[in-house]
Amino acid sequence: MSNKKITNVKTALPGPKGAALLDRWHKVEADTTGFQAPVVWDSAKGVVVTDVDGNVFLDWTSGVLVTNTGHCHPKLVAAVQAAVAKLINNYECPTESRVKAAESLVAHLPSHLNKCFFMTTGSEATEACQRIMKRKTGKFEVISFHGGFHGRTYSAASMGGLTGPKRGYGPTMPGVIKTPFPYAYRSPVGGGDAGLIDYCMTMLEENVRANSTGSLAGLMVEPYLGAAGFIFPPQGFLAQVEKWCRDKGILFTLDEVQSSYGRTGKLWAMEWENITPDLISIGKGIGCGVPTAAVAARADVIDCLGKGELSSTVGGNPVSSAAVSAILEIMDEEKLADNANKMGKIVMARLKEIQEKSRFLGDVRGRGLVIGMELVKDKKTKEPAPDLTRQLIVRCAENGLLVGSVGIFGNVIRVAPPLTINEAEAHESLDIMEKSLLSLQS
Ligand SMILES: Cc1ncc(COP(=O)(O)O)c(C=O)c1O
Repeated sequence: MSNKKITNVKTALPGPKGAALLDRWHKVEADTTGFQAPVVWDSAKGVVVTDVDGNVFLDWTSGVLVTNTGHCHPKLVAAVQAAVAKLINNYECPTESRVKAAESLVAHLPSHLNKCFFMTTGSEATEACQRIMKRKTGKFEVISFHGGFHGRTYSAASMGGLTGPKRGYGPTMPGVIKTPFPYAYRSPVGGGDAGLIDYCMTMLEENVRANSTGSLAGLMVEPYLGAAGFIFPPQGFLAQVEKWCRDKGILFTLDEVQSSYGRTGKLWAMEWENITPDLISIGKGIGCGVPTAAVAARADVIDCLGKGELSSTVGGNPVSSAAVSAILEIMDEEKLADNANKMGKIVMARLKEIQEKSRFLGDVRGRGLVIGMELVKDKKTKEPAPDLTRQLIVRCAENGLLVGSVGIFGNVIRVAPPLTINEAEAHESLDIMEKSLLSLQS
C-alpha cells in the first residue's frame, strides 16, 4: 500500500477561480441546493476530485450516492462516448442497446422482478410506481413513512415524510397515509429493536384504521431512510411490513433509488431482507451520472399499463442504455458490492473509534458504504447539531475530504464514497474526518 498522500488543498476555499465561478453562478441560477463546501469541481477519477483551482480531494459523496463505479470509470466513459457518436435519442422506438440494457437489468434482478421500464430520474420512477399500484388495484390510497424521501415532484413529494420538499407547496396529494419508520437512535419506546418494530407496526395499523377510506392500493418504503439520515430499520421490520401488505391484499413497493447498485454491500438492498417487493424504483447508481432511472416489477403488475400509458422523453435513450449495460458489467467484473461490504466494515470500525473520541458524534450507523454520522450537541440529550455539521463539512473540505449532509434535523454526515474506494483512500479520508471532527471540540 502506498503511503503517498492523495489529497492536496493548496488554496483557501473557494480558491480564486472557484470564487469567481460561484459569484457568476449565483447571479444566474437560483441558489436552492443544499449546504455544501465552496468547492467548484473540475474533474474526477475514481474517488479523487480536482477543483478548478487544482485542489485535490477525496470524495465521500459520490455526487449524492450516484457514481458507484467511481467517477468517470474508463469503461463507462468509452461506452457512452461510442453511443453518443452513433445515436443520441429516438424516443419510443427500441434500439439494440435499449433491449440489451433491459435484458441485463432484468437478469441482475431477483427472478420475480422480470420486467422493467426506463425513465430519467428517481422521482419519475417513484411516481410511476405509485401510478402502477393505483392502476393495478383500481384503488387510490398509498401508505408511506415519516422521514421518507421519494423525490421532489408533486406526488413523490406528497409521499415523502420530510418537510423540505413540501414547504409552501400544499395542499399535498390526497390519499397518502403516513406512519412512523423505526429510528432506533431516537426511539420513542423501550424494548430495543423488537419494541420499536412493534410500535411501528401498531402505528401502521392504527394510522390506516383511522385514515383510510377503504381504498388502499399499496405501500412504498425505502430499505433505509436516505434523505432522513441513513436510518436503517431493525432487521425484520421490512419483512413484517411486507407480510402486513400481503395480509391486506395491497402492493408492496421498495424505493431502491439510492440503496441499489451495490451501495449496501449487495447489488440490491432488498437482498439483506427476506422480502419480495412487487415493484421497485431504481435511480442514481443505474446511470452513475448519466441521467437514467427505471421501474422494475413483476410482469403481471407492470403489464396493467396499456400502450401509451407510460413513456419518458429521453428514458431508455441509446446513451443511457449503453451506460446501464456497461455499469452492470463493471459491477460484476470489479465485484463492487463485495468491495462495498469489505470497505464498509473497515470504515465503520474506524468511525466507531472516532465516535469514542468525539464529544459530538452521537451515532454511527449504516451498512456497506452508506454510513451516517449523526452529530449532536450533547451525547446524553441527543440535541441535534446542524450548525456543527455545516462547520464540519467546510473543515473536512479544507483538509481535503468532500462530504455532504442529510437528516431530518440536518445533522447527519453522509459517508458514501464511490464503491471503488481502496484501503489507502479509506484511511486517508478517515484521518481527515478524525482530524476535522476533533478540531471542532477544541
Ligand atoms: C430514495 C430516493 N427516492 C427517490 C429519489 C429522487 O430521485 P431524483 O432526485 O433522481 O428524482 C431520491 C433522491 O435522492 C431518493 O434518495
